[in-house]
Amino acid sequence: MKNRIIIIITGCIFFVQAAHADEGMWLPQLLGKLNEGQMKSLGMKISAADIYSINKGSLKDAVVSFGGFCTGDVISSQGLVLTNHHCGFDAIQNHSSIQNNYIRDGFWSKNKAEELTNKGLFVTFIVRIDDVTNQAMADVTSGMAEADRLSQIDKNLAAIKDRVQKGKNEDSFIRGFFEGNQYYLFVTKTYRDIRLVGAPPSAIGNFGKDTDNWMWPRHTGDFSMFRIYADANNEPSDYAAGNIPFKPKKSFNISLDGVKENDFTMVFGFPGRTMEYLPAVAVQQIMEVNDPAKIAIRDKALNVIDGFMRKDEVIKIQYASKYAGIQNAYKKWQGEILGLYRTDALAKKRTYEATFQQRVNANSVWKQAYGNVLPDLEAMYKTYQPYGLARDYYSEITSKIELFTIANQLNSLVAAYDKDGEAGYIKRLPAVKNNLEELIGEYNVTVDQRIFEVLMEKFIQDQTTTTYVSPAVNENLQKMGGNYKSLSAGIYNSFPYTTTDNINSLLSQPAANTVETIRNNATVVFLNNMMKQYQSSVLPSYNDNQAKINNLQRMYMKAQMEVMKEKKFYPDANSTLRLTYGKVKGYKARDAVSYGYSTDLDGVMQKYVPGDYEFDVPEKLQQLYKAKDYGQYGSNGKMNVCFIATNHTTGGNSGSPVLDAYGNLIGLNFDRVWEGTMSDINYDPSICRNIMVDIRYVLFIVDKFAGASHLIQEMKLVHPRINQK
Ligand code: ARG
Ligand code: GLU
Repeated sequence: MKNRIIIIITGCIFFVQAAHADEGMWLPQLLGKLNEGQMKSLGMKISAADIYSINKGSLKDAVVSFGGFCTGDVISSQGLVLTNHHCGFDAIQNHSSIQNNYIRDGFWSKNKAEELTNKGLFVTFIVRIDDVTNQAMADVTSGMAEADRLSQIDKNLAAIKDRVQKGKNEDSFIRGFFEGNQYYLFVTKTYRDIRLVGAPPSAIGNFGKDTDNWMWPRHTGDFSMFRIYADANNEPSDYAAGNIPFKPKKSFNISLDGVKENDFTMVFGFPGRTMEYLPAVAVQQIMEVNDPAKIAIRDKALNVIDGFMRKDEVIKIQYASKYAGIQNAYKKWQGEILGLYRTDALAKKRTYEATFQQRVNANSVWKQAYGNVLPDLEAMYKTYQPYGLARDYYSEITSKIELFTIANQLNSLVAAYDKDGEAGYIKRLPAVKNNLEELIGEYNVTVDQRIFEVLMEKFIQDQTTTTYVSPAVNENLQKMGGNYKSLSAGIYNSFPYTTTDNINSLLSQPAANTVETIRNNATVVFLNNMMKQYQSSVLPSYNDNQAKINNLQRMYMKAQMEVMKEKKFYPDANSTLRLTYGKVKGYKARDAVSYGYSTDLDGVMQKYVPGDYEFDVPEKLQQLYKAKDYGQYGSNGKMNVCFIATNHTTGGNSGSPVLDAYGNLIGLNFDRVWEGTMSDINYDPSICRNIMVDIRYVLFIVDKFAGASHLIQEMKLVHPRINQK
């Protein structure tokens, strides 16, 4: 009887774990050891070696880091790459002009000769991943001070990199995992001639804009296409007219069969940063202190920019991408707070910590080693809090007021001059000219002055510790009778270098004169005083506390992996290649509100607002909709647009391939649902969903909307439901 109960209970535990498989960003080289069994039980029909292998072409050979900030998917034997519209946006914007407005109208090359080059854009393949933990830890002892430990590890890593076996044109880098408890070496190959092949109009690629961003139900065709070019030997090369399309080791087959609820899915890409192993005290600070502070600051900046954008067409274009960037995290943080409260994340963390502490206390070895780690973290985070907040204030505010960015460019000339004299200055000058030119192109001094006025008031009034504000700043403000408008006017009036002409005339002087002028400029002095105050009153304590926290977090991570044995641990995202898997699923957002798992073109038309900035629908798309002209891409008279699943993703996963049980491409990842953005801190299967474009919508837009059927011909389209059953 007892045995049977035990068998039943064990069975249940297994079942529960198998059912909640969604959390985790797994290392592709460890799937065979850690995940394959579970993935197969969830429906996967291929093996771990089909996903990652160093001996044969595997799915990893069709995934690239796109420009270091997004993910791309190789979808043809001629090096065609698919990524998001918002990932390719910079390239699209750079090729756009009033005559050729590719942002508004989209762009489709009719043949390879029309594909457009993009300076500085690259894609990186992962050749292989090696565990180098033992070599990285050589001569590292447990009693070492954090700084000594880091310098020993740096030395070890440099030695590993010296010895690494690399092929032609390959690079390598090493990253720490599990808070620095493990180290992996990545051998990579980077291609630098990446050309724009096509992009839909913004009214498709960014349909719904900021209103729909982070939201479900979603109707955005967030994709664009590029092509990798290589030299005659298929090797990386800078742009050259004679380069030819790259022949990949592997490209994705594309499924035309669509998805059903509960289908197995995987997302393969480069997630940027998560913080899944913070103690409750740190999560509480994020929810109650840091996120709200950053939201309030951005709220003020966005209000100012929005006011100007609504009144002025030029500002609207100049500030569109900046506004979207500020708004993106602003909205995400709000969702994060909401989700953390709604899922009771703090209480769950505390329960977990209580179990951890109980187990540690019950084991004398653990108690000796880890007994104090949680109390120490609790105390350390409390000490750290004011500095963390002061840092958030300083970096949020100084990055929104672009006068700081401009002044810092000029400061870098002074620094180069002070360090290496005129030669240093001359070496630095072209970069500064280039950066300033780019900055000024999307800059309006009236907008910036108003942002300064509003954010400086917030900065000064919100500081709880007076030493965070430079005495010189206070003096200046007092001179202006405490009036921020006057302060702002004074600062901007004494700084003429916000126009191309004035910048050029400053930079055409002899080095010594320019440097003198910059050094003595009252505004530069004011901004530098703010910076120096921050560097002396906040940064040293911030860095010191952060180092102590890093040390404790590393110990806590190690301890959890030993003590909480039933839990499967995955390392926090750190922009390295990861695979996450889950199921296609709707969710319950709140009381009485549940969402289905997919959207279609009917929904696009339901959101349609003629002529609207966010919800206009191109004429051609309306015609296709009316005619139900969906070709092989529709199903049952519908054209699917987006779907959601339980895959655990984050920023950087944009453009990641979404794969079915056979490894066929079924979608393109581009977002998460608002209520679930707290998955960066605490994944909860009840509301965390990633948002993907249905690959059939991508193909429909390329083929039927853009008429670029020559691209479809390059791809391999498959019907897994019919052929592979
Ligand atoms: N929220 C997505 C991400 O984090 C999409 C952002 C681009 N779209 C936008 N409307 N801003 O990158
Ligand atoms: N849009 C995000 C990106 O650019 C992905 C969404 C997310 O954060 O999950 O990477």
